[in-house]
Amino acid sequence: MTCLHYRDNTLFVEDVALSKVATKFDTPCYVYSRGAIETNWRAFDDALKSIPHRICYAVKANSNLSILNLLAELQSGFDIVSVGELERVLAAGGDASKIIFSGVGKKKDEIRHAIEKNIFCFNIESATEAARIQEIAQALNKKVNVSLRINPDIDAKTHAYISTGLSENKFGVASQDAISMCQHIAAMPSLNLIGIACHIGSQITDLAPFQVALDFLFVTYEELKQLGIQLKTINVGGGLGISYQQEQTPAIADYAKMLTQKTSQYPVEIIIEPGRAIIGNAGVLLTRVEYIKHGQHKNFAIVDAGMNDLMRPALYQAWQHILAVNLHAGKKTTYDIVGPVCESSDFLGKERDLALAEGDLLAIDSAGAYGFSMSSNYNTRPRSAEVLIEGDKMKLVRKREEIQELFSNELQF
Ligand SMILES: Cc1ncc(COP(=O)(O)O)c(C=O)c1O
Repeated sequence: MTCLHYRDNTLFVEDVALSKVATKFDTPCYVYSRGAIETNWRAFDDALKSIPHRICYAVKANSNLSILNLLAELQSGFDIVSVGELERVLAAGGDASKIIFSGVGKKKDEIRHAIEKNIFCFNIESATEAARIQEIAQALNKKVNVSLRINPDIDAKTHAYISTGLSENKFGVASQDAISMCQHIAAMPSLNLIGIACHIGSQITDLAPFQVALDFLFVTYEELKQLGIQLKTINVGGGLGISYQQEQTPAIADYAKMLTQKTSQYPVEIIIEPGRAIIGNAGVLLTRVEYIKHGQHKNFAIVDAGMNDLMRPALYQAWQHILAVNLHAGKKTTYDIVGPVCESSDFLGKERDLALAEGDLLAIDSAGAYGFSMSSNYNTRPRSAEVLIEGDKMKLVRKREEIQELFSNELQF
């Protein structure tokens, strides 16, 4: 569900008109609803309350400090994939003992740093990573919690670039090696094997692949139990989709019910790592129409946000709803909404029917996840400002970058 609504033909996030945000902070600008983030997080927590559970928000979806701080206040855990994300979580007041470190390419320094910070657990993705963590933990004289990420070879039926649970994907260890790997890890003196994990992909709009993954994890759990390895946690990753284009997506409550039904039969804690389902529909990208251009075959609305600000359409042909901030009475025309970046893949939406004029504001809906966090300085464009809304209050939570900052780390030869 979007966090946007019209009042008197003007688009609002909570009780703040987006035109006011643009006047105060200029465009392009990401705008987030604090209420929507909290509602989404609580929806998971409430729906899982009958079983031991841990929600580890996937920091990669949106890592703004204010958002991490809000989640830390809700007692959330965090799923990180780099030491940069670890430091962000700590800077935002997050608790190290609630952090899970995922990712296929953890460097030695990152592992050492995370062990020194006493994070909750590493999700191990290969045999050599297990050996590396063992060696570093031993040198630090620590015993660290680990979980094995398994690649269950399940088709999550999502875009190929965000599918992570197929055998052709780089993530996790092959399912046929899972048992022997767990036995191997369980024998390592500085590792404490607490669980198994999988994350089969993102923007999954059907519960069936989750159910298959969950069943697979519990079959593995049983096999390990027979071998004398008693696990404490089952981590099903993130991946729950949101509705971008009126897709029917499972409700958080139904997803949680599926997890609860299965997990309640076992003495384990369930771990989930949602990102998109918490922040995706809680944010929008606000942009202004700079030029209207009528080409031979197409009409273009050239806006001040580009693929460097919001990469999803260019990267995965993602469709996001685009709304006029102030509704006009004028006739609608079909436009491609494009940015100023010098690439033909620089579009935010194609063939959208809108009544537009130069200077108008547009809101790209459901841009809270993988929006700002994937943005770049391509074309030496400063990354946009970010604003958090609470009721009728708006607060700048990230300043727009200054041009000088963009090359301040560069040295003249
Ligand atoms: C290991 C892991 N956990 C959680 C997530 C979050 O996924 P989503 O934002 O779809 O919930 C990702 C995203 O790719 C991931 O790689």
